Amino acid sequence: MTEDAHSDKGRPLIGKLVVIGLGLIGGSLAAGLRRRGVCRETIGIVRRAEAGRKALELGVVDRVVASLDAVAPELGQGDVIFVAVPTLAVESVLSDVRRQVSSDVTVTDGASVKGSIKAAVESVYGEMPPQVVLGHPIAGSERSGVTASNPDLYEQHRVILTPLPDTGAAHLERVRGMWQAVGAEVLDMSVEEHDQVLGATSHLPHAIAYSLVDTLAEDIGNPNIFRYAAGGFRDFTRIASSDPVMWHDIMKANRTAVLDSLDLFIDNLTRLRSAIDREDGEYLLGVFTRAKTARDHFTNILAKRAFVPAMTTGKIDYLLQPGGSVTGTIRVPGDKSVSHRSIMLGSLAEGITEVEGFLEGEDALATLQAFRDMGVVIEGPSEGRVKIHGVGLRGLKAPKKPLYIGNSGTTIRLMSGILAGQAFDSEISGDVSLAKRPMDRVANPLREMGAVVEAAEGGRPPLKIKGGQVLKGIDYQLPMASAQVKSCVLLAGLYAEGTTRVTEPAPTRDHTERMLTGFGYPVTKEGAVSELTGGGELKGTKIEVPADISSATFFMVAASIAPGSDLTLTHVGINPTRVGVINILKAMGADLTLSNERTVGGEPVADIRVRHAQLKGIHIPEDQVPLAIDEFPALFVAAACAEGETVLTGAEELRVKESDRIQAMADGLSTLGIDAKPTPDGIVIQGGSMGGGEVVTHHDHRIAMAFAIAALRASQPIRVLDATNVATSFPTFVELAKQTGISLEVIDR
Ligand code: S3P
Repeated sequence: MTEDAHSDKGRPLIGKLVVIGLGLIGGSLAAGLRRRGVCRETIGIVRRAEAGRKALELGVVDRVVASLDAVAPELGQGDVIFVAVPTLAVESVLSDVRRQVSSDVTVTDGASVKGSIKAAVESVYGEMPPQVVLGHPIAGSERSGVTASNPDLYEQHRVILTPLPDTGAAHLERVRGMWQAVGAEVLDMSVEEHDQVLGATSHLPHAIAYSLVDTLAEDIGNPNIFRYAAGGFRDFTRIASSDPVMWHDIMKANRTAVLDSLDLFIDNLTRLRSAIDREDGEYLLGVFTRAKTARDHFTNILAKRAFVPAMTTGKIDYLLQPGGSVTGTIRVPGDKSVSHRSIMLGSLAEGITEVEGFLEGEDALATLQAFRDMGVVIEGPSEGRVKIHGVGLRGLKAPKKPLYIGNSGTTIRLMSGILAGQAFDSEISGDVSLAKRPMDRVANPLREMGAVVEAAEGGRPPLKIKGGQVLKGIDYQLPMASAQVKSCVLLAGLYAEGTTRVTEPAPTRDHTERMLTGFGYPVTKEGAVSELTGGGELKGTKIEVPADISSATFFMVAASIAPGSDLTLTHVGINPTRVGVINILKAMGADLTLSNERTVGGEPVADIRVRHAQLKGIHIPEDQVPLAIDEFPALFVAAACAEGETVLTGAEELRVKESDRIQAMADGLSTLGIDAKPTPDGIVIQGGSMGGGEVVTHHDHRIAMAFAIAALRASQPIRVLDATNVATSFPTFVELAKQTGISLEVIDR
């Protein structure tokens, strides 16, 4: 029995439950509540004696009666009537209920359409009475009748309630508790939204399944057709065995929403037909790859969001045991910055781009999906391989809904530059952490170029970008050392008249410039100035993504701080604009050796061997800050393990990353017993010894990973609260941490 099954005083939650219509839906609820002891008595109203006998024999209810008048006088407050008859029969059942049952009794239903039931209630009662709670359990099977009753049918299924302004709070909570008691997750929705969503996700597929089977059975003139039907046919048409009367009712009751969805589907099918006719392989591949991705992640589609794959279904913590060392040879996943850019530029290129070593983390996948949403055919990713069918600079199509890009600052900032140059309007939004990040830094230069960009309050996401603007090249002095802003302006420059020139106050990562060159687009980079002229063309190419030095950093620091460590990281990107971490660690006395240096696809890479060494505190040179911008959470852990004081200045940008990284790290280190004092633009850390405790990540992947490696030098366990977002940049972190010797356990929250 669940906790919800009883009221506070230990009485059953429901007095008498009367189920009108003991089929699959009604019978399963009665049986589930009865088995869990949630009601004082369960009563079924069954017209046919045979069905009543079966219900008693199967233990579905305690008592059966032939009609409502046999129980109505017994019912009062705390009792529930569940109407589970076919949709079009609900109105006449409700008339009986109104005539015979007091207004204290809670009345609810399980019909698949809510608009028509609402209308039926209003026509019977002349209003929506407080006692009536409309609901719909999203569970079922192609089986029907009382013999199909299953007391566990609703376990881990959703039930949608559609409360109205007049719905009584106590009645609503009683119905909610009833469904929770049989293991369901209860969601609230408006009547209209319910009917629209269900029309598309349930009623439309049933219409199609019935129609397909009927086509095969009736219209294709081969009597043996079903003999050859295999698994695909079985999977696709299972629901055509559902109860015809029930589905006849649903189609009529939800006519408008079903017709809307059906029209869209018929249009899509017609386009598919013509693509097959023309042998348009690209179109077919586009539909099939988009559909496969959507099917693989259909929960997001149901949530009405563009798809961003959640790699973990729920939130997770890390629990780390103190001590240990790291050893072995590993390759961390592909570089996040390069992966994002490979999708963006590959999509805008003419012809095919093949990518290897692509980071299959949530952020880069969000970029990939956004371009799919704009009509680009992208195959994969499969083991880091992606094939992009570029559409050219002018080939993107208007997305049908706002582009949802999760946690990814790089996606929104770079993509806004691309979207500013399109003929269509667009909107980009993301998760709670992204919603706090400043976007004026990209909106301002884009506006200078002639773009129309609207941000939410305080210059935060979502961003709305108006299409059809004429952009002109600008000469832009970056106010902060940000590669995202530089890249945004350069990407908008691809669409601008004339030359776009960006001057940076300090060197920042130059992957955009390098990759544009790789795509055959002329870019000049002289000192602090990057420059390109609009109106050119990108040509599809091959890209090999190096392992991400930002992910490698956690292991470089881990090996440096943990006595006995000897770890080699292979194929790490060592682009000179990213090697701040190597320079800083070396200055702190770390034992790092680079070997096998080579260039792959325009980016230098090397193998890096790291052995434990006693680190010492330093004043971090300010010129290294932009070159190590993402590496500071891990470097602060190195500083906590170093002898003496480490001082960081000139790093105010750290306050506007996925979290305020200065504050988040200072708080976490203090919890572990380290003297860490934040300053407006940096931090002062005294090396010392770490105890243990619980640290808060503020949804920030790098804060989570930094404290995971800190455990190597802690004296007590560390619990990292909410490490879910590690999947955004480093989906294999846990696996590699364990492989190298870190004692890490993942705990579901
Ligand atoms: C990135 C640039 C940096 C970095 C981010 C990725 C990029 O951001 O922190 O993780 O790919 O251009 P800023 O440009 O805001 O410094």
